[in-house]
Amino acid sequence: MATVFLRGATLPDGRTGQDVLCEAGRIVAVGPALSAPPGAEVIDAQGWLLSPPFVDAHFHMDATLSHGLPRVNASGTLLEGIALWGELKPTLVQDAIVERALQYCDWAVAKGLLAIRTHVDVCDDRLLAVEALLQVKQQVRPYVDLQLVAFPQDGVLRSPGALANLKRALDMGVDVVGGIPHFERTMQEGADSVKLLCELAAERGRPVDMHCDETDDPMSRHIETLAFHTHRLGLQGRVTGSHLTSMHSMDNYYVSKLIPLMAEAGVHAVANPLINITLQGRHDSYPKRRGMTRVPELMAAGVTVGFGHDCVMDPWYSLGSGDMLEVAHMGLHVAQMTSLAGQQACFDAVTVNSARILGLQGYGLVPGCRADFVLLQARSPAEAIRLRAQRLLVVRAGEVLVRCAPATAELRLPGRPATVDWTLQR
Ligand code: FE2
Repeated sequence: MATVFLRGATLPDGRTGQDVLCEAGRIVAVGPALSAPPGAEVIDAQGWLLSPPFVDAHFHMDATLSHGLPRVNASGTLLEGIALWGELKPTLVQDAIVERALQYCDWAVAKGLLAIRTHVDVCDDRLLAVEALLQVKQQVRPYVDLQLVAFPQDGVLRSPGALANLKRALDMGVDVVGGIPHFERTMQEGADSVKLLCELAAERGRPVDMHCDETDDPMSRHIETLAFHTHRLGLQGRVTGSHLTSMHSMDNYYVSKLIPLMAEAGVHAVANPLINITLQGRHDSYPKRRGMTRVPELMAAGVTVGFGHDCVMDPWYSLGSGDMLEVAHMGLHVAQMTSLAGQQACFDAVTVNSARILGLQGYGLVPGCRADFVLLQARSPAEAIRLRAQRLLVVRAGEVLVRCAPATAELRLPGRPATVDWTLQR
């Protein structure tokens, strides 16, 4: 493995002029004015922002890049997306799922996204998608950490065979227990599903990540049940509530009790800004609710909040490119996190916070961590979000995977001096 020496980077905490020495795939030193060992590959970072890689805390890789198959989502709602996915599912073939997932991983790496937690639907008795994504997980291991969640899309209690399939998926090597309590037939069945799935996770020593309360119904309170069973079963730090969009519409008094309960239980939260802002509020006239969960309030209470991309070109969302800076950009706007600290927190939501949610080992820019990082054409995290900055370099275990030339615009405007300006990269 090559010895790589990166000279003169800016770190996300604002330190400038930082050199980074990587040996045998690990970071061995970070600091100013280090010496490059003989034979090292020296890369001049030119003061650009060096970040640990982006981490996507919530994705659906079995559906990605299937947009238009067999038709597009006409209403744009979550429920039509689920129905459409149900039409597509019986026609899926394993090779096509693998091919689309590999294609998406190429996109992800090009954008500096090197760890993804993806849900995989287990409601198809063939478990084709599970087999496909387990294969993809092995194949991409040298460049992407893929974590799989056994996701009963049609409801673990509502869909016949779903529980048995979910257990089979775990036996096959799927990492995390998923769920979708708001899609069960009743509130009671939703609560029962949370209990059942948390107990299953506790029994098997697995983490939990549930689609939870992805609805505009303020009475959808499965997150309370999830926090309760997390606490009861001693699963603190191992359970994640994804989406939590009903929290947007809940009564403030109730939320003032709920958020401390979540913090006490050590439940993590994942918001999916691009999807929440497009799928939620569809039954509203005006005003239309934003539908994203209460990100700054959760963060202020000490809950770890990550952002996910959720969907890219699938039955629920026709856009996306694997760019977590686009996700952070939308999250910042929807949550009105425009202060400098708020912008930094949105950057954390697509890097360190999501890494914590996935339980990644050796993640970060300190000695001992795996030498994974992305060099961004920006001077700070806030600027990286504002510009959705060019990825100049993506490095995994000390190996350069992606190199892009700096993006600049050459301006020749009448009455203005001719300039070449990197800040016009977008
Ligand atoms: Fe999702």
